[in-house]
Amino acid sequence: MTATNATTTSPELYYTLPISQRSKSLTWTRTLLATAAAIVFATACLTINATQIGFLLPLRLLPFQWARQIYTDCIRFTKRAFGCLLILMCQWFAPTSLVISFEREGKGRFTPEQIERIVRKDQDGRVVSLDLPSKFVLIANHQVYADWWYAWCFTYFIGANGVHDSVFITLKKSLQWLPVLGWAMRFYNFIFLARSWVSDRVQLSTHLSALGKAAEQEDSPLVFFLYPEGTVVSKDTRPISKKFADKTGIDDMTNVLLPRSTGLHYSLRSLGPRIPDLKLLDITTVYPGIPPMGYGQSYYTLRSIFLHGIPPPTIHMHLRMFDVATNVPIGDLSKTNAAVNPRSSSAVEVEIPEKEKASFDVWLRELWHEKDMSMTKWFNGASFGEPSFEIPLRLRNKTDMCNGLGFFLPTIVGYVCSRIGK
Ligand SMILES: *[C@@H]1O[C@H](CO)[C@@H](O)[C@H](O)[C@H]1NC(C)=O
Repeated sequence: MTATNATTTSPELYYTLPISQRSKSLTWTRTLLATAAAIVFATACLTINATQIGFLLPLRLLPFQWARQIYTDCIRFTKRAFGCLLILMCQWFAPTSLVISFEREGKGRFTPEQIERIVRKDQDGRVVSLDLPSKFVLIANHQVYADWWYAWCFTYFIGANGVHDSVFITLKKSLQWLPVLGWAMRFYNFIFLARSWVSDRVQLSTHLSALGKAAEQEDSPLVFFLYPEGTVVSKDTRPISKKFADKTGIDDMTNVLLPRSTGLHYSLRSLGPRIPDLKLLDITTVYPGIPPMGYGQSYYTLRSIFLHGIPPPTIHMHLRMFDVATNVPIGDLSKTNAAVNPRSSSAVEVEIPEKEKASFDVWLRELWHEKDMSMTKWFNGASFGEPSFEIPLRLRNKTDMCNGLGFFLPTIVGYVCSRIGK
């Protein structure tokens, strides 16, 4: 019997213990830090939301095209600020690094030349950014609720300026009325779904089509996050995946849940025709500390990471990339009218022939199977493959730090004045 618990494990290795076995009492420094973390996060969120309501909402109500444009730019700015805040919270209260690697053999692989081109380093050889395309759908396995936090942090390092100001996610409709956070998410134009992909498919498709069209017209980045497993791996969801596998006669997965292809399929069919060079970026994320077959939430929660100060020491992200138009079987979209947003369930984007549905489903399951196997290999001590690149989660400069803290009002006011003066 190996007796691992809080009394025999040194604090640096606490992340390897399930949260339930860690010491419950916080040192006074930790209590102070936790309080500071909560205050910084809450204050910055409040500032962002107050700016949106007090300053930007009135702009939106003005019936002029220029006001609309300024509104859109400023909302993007508040999203950038939130992205910076997510990194700043890591930098100050839960330091960690991303370890990025690229698939070299399987689906969605990169060539050595591509990797060479993508990874940008400074004179000292430190990775400063990843020159990846700026319009993509990001899919990943889902183990902990903090997954989206770190995925958003990852977007900060894409391109010289980051694409963290162009992130879109879907959320449960009930969350839109959550004070501050929910309201801010509505300003961010996130997609709220009432029940499921199937019941909300037209709304999802209309919304995404509009986002895609705008991104293409303005040539601005667009990052849409989607977790095909729908939920985190847990003692409740594992058996559901197993049951579904048994019922349909397919193999269940080991480290991940069986992916659901429907939502992703609608999304790609809506965005694809409007963004000709849309990419699909697949990330396999693993966190040291979570044992094979373990449940991530028993090791990492937002509370344990940011308040108790026990982040994963590194976060491994293994990338695969696909060109949606040529490498992903999303079906025949030749009848789509990209200029018009789908408005009914008979639109090509949402009315998918059974055969096309089935082939996309198989494609995604195979991708997930590869992902599952690479995770098993990782657990057995192999890396995701060389080369890998470590990127500490830190902001690049003081401006970003001010933005993250919510000290951005002067910048926004300056911007608006300069626009109005023209
Ligand atoms: C700070 O870094 C961001 C990218 O994260 C960049 O867009 C910005 O121009 C930089 N600001 C200064 C003052 O260097």
